[in-house]
Amino acid sequence: MALQILVTGGTGYIGSHTVVELQNAGYKVVIVDDLSNSSIDVLDNIEKITGIKPIFEQLNLVDAERTGALFRKYPDLQAIIHFAASKAVGESVQIPLHYYRNNLVSLMNLLDGQRKYGVANIVFSSSCTVYGQPEVLPVTEQTPRKDAESPYGNTKRISEDILNDSIRAYPELRGIALRYFNPIGAHESALIGELPLGVPQNLVPFITQTAAGLRDELKVFGNDYDTPDGSAIRDYINVVDLAKAHVVAIERLLNKKNKAKYEVFNLGTGEGLSVLQVVKGFEKATGVELNYKIVDRRPGDIEKIWADTTYANQELGWKAEKGLEETLLSAWNWEKRVRGIQ
Ligand code: UD1
Repeated sequence: MALQILVTGGTGYIGSHTVVELQNAGYKVVIVDDLSNSSIDVLDNIEKITGIKPIFEQLNLVDAERTGALFRKYPDLQAIIHFAASKAVGESVQIPLHYYRNNLVSLMNLLDGQRKYGVANIVFSSSCTVYGQPEVLPVTEQTPRKDAESPYGNTKRISEDILNDSIRAYPELRGIALRYFNPIGAHESALIGELPLGVPQNLVPFITQTAAGLRDELKVFGNDYDTPDGSAIRDYINVVDLAKAHVVAIERLLNKKNKAKYEVFNLGTGEGLSVLQVVKGFEKATGVELNYKIVDRRPGDIEKIWADTTYANQELGWKAEKGLEETLLSAWNWEKRVRGIQ
């Protein structure tokens, strides 16, 4: 019988790509999502890709009663991948209590449910935001975490602590925190991808919306950083590569291959690219010229970060495979499909 995995936030950007990879690997998926930042149509598109419509429950995990009922409804769950969270940095500064409640209470309710109903394994979506601006690059899993720059970033840091402390205290729990660098791109089918509500805050959705004519111009935030071309550097990882790492993490837990009860992995490519390199890469991959201009730095942005992927590569036997141009083309194909552009 196929093993059953609960994917919270499974209709979201990274969640939906992970559901596809889990189904391709033979797992049965139950999605929980409150649809606050995603659409129910994602389920049909997952079915078009994999031939299987995942089970879906619309629910906010801050509701402890309904979260408990969910565990009772699905007694065969083997593991949880917990994506569901609010993730807009700027918004988190405006409405911090919403962020702390939504991101932390949901995790605690899940952990309560795991203990009460005997679900040992959890994979958690963390972020390289926990490193802040590191002194030494690239960052390894041992690089010290820094004080968060925003309530959103702080929820990731505190969530890691909640997980670590809980897994340490309760013998029945095991978990892996995955620290994502910058996920970009879309499934090659162009049936699922990133669909931000309102004006995109992240670079690649802003690029594709500019190319599609929804935005007049891309603003490149800063060209006076201490980097080769002056624009800020990040480690951009293809979302399908990232999704596959979740399947590997689940298998590691289910097969008890983990070396400690709580483990942390960086998920990136190991290569840092500047904003201008991404802009040029997009133009080259798609043949579309981008209207962009250099403006001031964005407050709160760090200068440069990229991952040391040695530990993830060796321990997980996983490596990001897709290149920048292929990835940017997939993002563009997705944007074109969503906007009905030929
Ligand atoms: C941001 C968050 C990070 C979060 C991640 C989730 C901040 C400071 N960090 O990462 O905590 O985990 O999103 O996806 O917000 N850029 C432009 N023009 C734009 C948009 C972005 O030049 O219109 C630049 C940024 O200045 C940055 C790079 O592109 O140098 C990447 O930006 P973005 O995609 O927003 O990701 P991060 O800021 O790295």
